[in-house]
Amino acid sequence: MVVVLGIESTAHTFGIAIVKDGRVLSNVRDMYTTEKGGIVPLDSAKHHREVAPRLLAQALEKACIRENEIEVIAFSQGPGIAPCLLFGLNFTKELSSRLGLPVVPVNHCVAHLEIGRLTGAKDPVLLYASGANTQIIAYAAGKYRVFGETLDLGVGNFIDTFARHAGIGFPGGPKIAALAEQASEEVKKNLIELPYSIKGMDVAFSGAQTKLKQLLDSGKYKIEDLSYSMQETIFPMLIEASERALAHTGKTELLIGGGVGCNKRLQEMARIMCEERGCVFFVPENQFLVDNAGMIAFLGEIMFKRRVYTKLEDVKNLDIKPRERTDDIEVSWK
Ligand code: ATP
Ligand code: FE2
Repeated sequence: MVVVLGIESTAHTFGIAIVKDGRVLSNVRDMYTTEKGGIVPLDSAKHHREVAPRLLAQALEKACIRENEIEVIAFSQGPGIAPCLLFGLNFTKELSSRLGLPVVPVNHCVAHLEIGRLTGAKDPVLLYASGANTQIIAYAAGKYRVFGETLDLGVGNFIDTFARHAGIGFPGGPKIAALAEQASEEVKKNLIELPYSIKGMDVAFSGAQTKLKQLLDSGKYKIEDLSYSMQETIFPMLIEASERALAHTGKTELLIGGGVGCNKRLQEMARIMCEERGCVFFVPENQFLVDNAGMIAFLGEIMFKRRVYTKLEDVKNLDIKPRERTDDIEVSWK
């Protein structure tokens, strides 16, 4: 039996979770949001500092766990925004030193994938669609390999930038999804044309981004119709890349991860594609799709049980890894 406390702080979300024997007992988070404009790194880190003590208390209370029952701390080491990661690291070090606990440094992207185990997925292709990242990942020969990815910006950032340009605050994803549902019948039949850019399993969004800005600035189009056309153009790119990865790897499960994975239309497209291919589609609960500490603690427990962790006396030497890549990680716990 292992009780793990997980800490997430890579970007806009600060979260704390308690996991015991593969069960997420609590998973609390607080997100830095803005009415207008995107993430200001130092403001986001300040947000994390302000909410951290309260979230720690809440996570323990919800899980009915006392501090002295925690056996190990898992934290998001990277990739992410440096000031946010640094706060998470320092918070982890203080807690580790105060409670005398070892630490498991966790890769945030791999955690998005591993939390899929809760859904029953065994060996999936992951469509990882978040703010900063858009990758098609699958396990092969000891590592999580990136089969395809965005060549420019992450799909969430792309959507958020469009939303920001339209004067909608951060995060834009849920608001754009709601607007898309209000699109006019003409546009639903006949999309506003946007660049569809996919090469092999790689995708690119900057062409669509430029075009969307122009169309919005022209004042001729309703934001609802642009949102709809955007989703109906961009999401099929992600589905096409995922389908190629399924065909290429011969795997039969597709898992979705990342905040954009909450989008019901994207889920619907993925489900249809999987049905047509005879594959199974897995969707974690929303609380495990967006950035959250539950997935960090969950993977932390798996790694700790395989003895992949940093001993108490070495915790002081730990550092953040803002640019760590998914395929840098030796997956020694599988
Ligand atoms: P990562 O560090 O893994 O790249 P991230 O820090 O950007 O991720 P996530 O919480 O995984 O964070 O994803 C955030 C993105 O998800 C934002 O772009 C946001 O607009 C989008 N998003 C969140 N909820 C929804 C939703 N319900 N529908 C569509 N998009 C959503
Ligand atoms: Fe994330």
